[in-house]
Amino acid sequence: MRRSVILGIESSCDDTAAAVLDDGRLVSSVISSQIVHEAFGGVVPELASRDHQRFIVPVVRQALEKAGITNEDITGVAVTSGPGLAGSLLVGLSFAKAMAYALDVPLVGVNHLEGHMYSVFLEEDQPSFPFLCLIVSGGHTQLVQVDADFKHTVMGSTRDDAAGEAFDKVAKLIGLGYPGGPKVDALAAQGDPTFHQFPRSSLGGYDFSFSGLKTAVLYYLNSFSEKEREELLRDHMADLCASFQQAVVDMLVTVVRRAVRRTGVKEVAVVGGVSANSGLRKALEALQDKEGFSLYVPSITYCTDNAAMIAKAGAMSLESGKTSTLYITAEPSLKVS
Ligand code: KG4
Ligand code: ZN
Repeated sequence: MRRSVILGIESSCDDTAAAVLDDGRLVSSVISSQIVHEAFGGVVPELASRDHQRFIVPVVRQALEKAGITNEDITGVAVTSGPGLAGSLLVGLSFAKAMAYALDVPLVGVNHLEGHMYSVFLEEDQPSFPFLCLIVSGGHTQLVQVDADFKHTVMGSTRDDAAGEAFDKVAKLIGLGYPGGPKVDALAAQGDPTFHQFPRSSLGGYDFSFSGLKTAVLYYLNSFSEKEREELLRDHMADLCASFQQAVVDMLVTVVRRAVRRTGVKEVAVVGGVSANSGLRKALEALQDKEGFSLYVPSITYCTDNAAMIAKAGAMSLESGKTSTLYITAEPSLKVS
């Protein structure tokens, strides 16, 4: 069989990334995370787009060098086409189109969320179909049933903030800066999750809601005088992080447990930036023994945005015969379908 060498490109938000899959084996994955946004407390779209333009060529070049391949070895190009920031998506997409056209190889547009969903196939231990997939990232929180042949059924979504967004917003409230998720996670590991009982919103089905929790943290902080608040943040930062994180974890775990019980599907994947959270990973590991399901979580590097997952989902799409034309455009609001 002909060797398949897929170049994956990701530029949907603030990471410029490229990866190479050689006959299904990941041989390089390069991620350049933009630091320009830190000073602004969040991603500034215009700056993101400009930085992607600066980094796309060196990042792809480095991915090819690390993989030990040349342009001529590439047999297909996979690129994120949405969802994400329009100006950011366009940089990766334009580059990928030019590459596919110049090399005369197929191009395939990949839904970023499907990239996350199929990131579990980068690992040796892989789920079988159908599996339940909890996508928890900075922009999205969804529970999806994934069947063979790219059949996806969205079972539930967040009605307001995404889980990662809640981490980032609360981190900002307590003065931890951006991006907040990893910082809250690290501090929470040293704190007491029972320090304060924040509310857990329960919608009964498979939907999520995190904005109430974020507001509860704000009201809690505002219930103190300025001096008391300073002392609280100085003496109990880790406890606050642990208490907030526990509330998020409880809400996510409740929905996963409900879905496993109601559907009887015993394969569960958790993907996206927040799947890197150590509290969530621990809670789900404990739950899998109790509920008798198998848990699949990508290694930390493939939880947050990367191009390896785009190359993987793209390679699987190409194998199934799907390709995109050079007229494919960026779709900032692309949904799982
Ligand atoms: O998947 P991702 O890299 O980008 C999107 O597609 O949105 O997810 C980024 C999100 C951010 O909100 C970040 O704070 C969160 O994932 N995140 C974490 C952790 N690592 C990243 N949240 C909690 N704990 C972590 N360890
Ligand atoms: Zn993502």
